[in-house]
Amino acid sequence: MAYTVTEIGPTTGVEISGLSGAELVDQDVADVALDALNRRGVVIFREANLSEDDLVAFSRLLGKVAQLPLGGDSKHPEIQKVTRDASQSKLAAYREGTFFWHIDGTTAEVPDKATVLMARQVSDDDSGDTEFANTYAAYEELPAADRAELDALRVVHSFAASQLLVYPDPDPKERAAWDRNPSREHPLVWTRGSGRKSMVLGSTAEQIVGKSEDESKTLLNRLLEWSTQDRFTLRHQWRVGDLVIWDNTGMLHRACPYGEQSARLMLRTSLVGEEVVQ
Ligand SMILES: [Fe+2]
Repeated sequence: MAYTVTEIGPTTGVEISGLSGAELVDQDVADVALDALNRRGVVIFREANLSEDDLVAFSRLLGKVAQLPLGGDSKHPEIQKVTRDASQSKLAAYREGTFFWHIDGTTAEVPDKATVLMARQVSDDDSGDTEFANTYAAYEELPAADRAELDALRVVHSFAASQLLVYPDPDPKERAAWDRNPSREHPLVWTRGSGRKSMVLGSTAEQIVGKSEDESKTLLNRLLEWSTQDRFTLRHQWRVGDLVIWDNTGMLHRACPYGEQSARLMLRTSLVGEEVVQ
């Protein structure tokens, strides 16, 4: 099979071109993608245009595919439709939350290993790009003294913290509903079995344990600003059929805002996490 692998961006992203449809459903292709994912955090197959069956089959070659707790939105229980159209997705009302930098599943003990997203339809007004920020690279480039200080910190993550960014003034009933989602404490710096380190940041990060609310916010905002500088980020402008895989454990991601009436429609699968945050 003839395909090319091109590194994009200074720290983050690989583009693999020349493959589409069922050609991706091949263990050698999946292994190339997994290797690139490990080195560069984000892997883009331009205009891959997989069927739903092939999307699930390809995802299974990358790892264990999550079954969605609320059931999928397509004939496959593994596929979630990402759209603001409530008639197509049960979670459409929460899409605005994805406009803020985040990591999926931070309130779980084991966050998802990776996310696979494929564009079925794109916006017609240049909105809805997806951005990624590499917190492995961002951590590595911090001064040694800062890294040592961060290594000792722990952070509480909550669903409520992410919702407050969208709805800063909830009524008590709304707030209570958010708070029924259990929060979770993780180390700020995640050390993998391999020794690699990344930072667990983003919209769910509510509070640093042992610091005041103000000190917490200041430090978390400073780290988010640091991690989302140009040299650690990648912005993907979608074409129909593009398939993007990212390492959900080390990449922050966000959607650039798109309207409620936007045609943007993505199909998503998630790969089950393999390491506890520690
Ligand atoms: Fe997400």
